[in-house]
Amino acid sequence: MAVIQATKISKTFYNPSESRAVKTLDDVSFSADKDEFVVLLGPSGCGKSTFLNILAGLTSHDRDGGKVTVHGRTVLAPQPDLIAYMFQDSILYPWRTVIKNVELGLETRAMSRAERRERAFKYLDLVGLRAYADHYPRQISGGMAQRVALCRSLALETEIILMDEPFGALDEQTRATLGSELASICRELKRTVVFVTHSLAEAAFLGDRIAVFSAQPGRIKIDIKNNLPRPRVMGSPEFRNFVDELWLHLQDAKQQAGAAPDRQGSPLGAT
Ligand SMILES: Nc1ncnc2c1ncn2[C@@H]1O[C@H](COP(=O)(O)OP(=O)(O)OP(=O)(O)O)[C@@H](O)[C@H]1O
Ligand SMILES: [Mg+2]
Repeated sequence: MAVIQATKISKTFYNPSESRAVKTLDDVSFSADKDEFVVLLGPSGCGKSTFLNILAGLTSHDRDGGKVTVHGRTVLAPQPDLIAYMFQDSILYPWRTVIKNVELGLETRAMSRAERRERAFKYLDLVGLRAYADHYPRQISGGMAQRVALCRSLALETEIILMDEPFGALDEQTRATLGSELASICRELKRTVVFVTHSLAEAAFLGDRIAVFSAQPGRIKIDIKNNLPRPRVMGSPEFRNFVDELWLHLQDAKQQAGAAPDRQGSPLGAT
């Protein structure tokens, strides 16, 4: 049963440098079921962030009959009680401590201060950062800051979480660690997640399904079920085969967009 569903979504932006309207998304239909972890992959500029913004109710889509629904109800505005969004450039407020950053989204909720604190600690515990609760962002590493941003999204305890390249700026190893933490947290907490990444390894590791976008205009080229058993082992032959398969789909998507395909052989972990 689909929790979030997008039907025939198109988006046209006005491009000022070309003085014309450009179709960024064309007729994108997509759904994520309860507790499903769906990854969106696609060339840069194909409209993944735009699509996530539309799912979140932050950006309107073209008025041509398309719609986004959550549990069958049309989304016309942000739904903070239903949908958490970790942006591509999620940042922590430097003047707030780690715990105050995690509490941020809860401050508008009808909760007591003690409840808020307890909730924030629960998620800091999950990612091993309780000891850093009173640190300021400048006193922690980039990887820790991403964990805090992750906690801030999880602490909202929404049924749906949208994540736009949440670990994009991290080194490969920290990224892999956070990826496996996220996989176990999501299994435990049972959330529906739509996750954008450029990393094929991350997609293969995390996704129950992977939707590959082609560009100009962005369309879902293929929607693949990830049958790798869990727990997944990065570097196992089956894992590598699946990453190779994703790489081929992505090369196809890039070619369709008129970009030169990558010539390098080994795709593991990059696009
Ligand atoms: N507010 C806007 N006004 C005009 N054009 C926009 C706007 N937002 C996005 N675009 C255009 O829409 C296209 C898709 O952008 P988007 O950020 O969704 O791509 P993306 O797939 O997330 O790329 P990346 O992988 O680099 O993050 C780009 O050509 C971008 O310039
Ligand atoms: Mg983006």
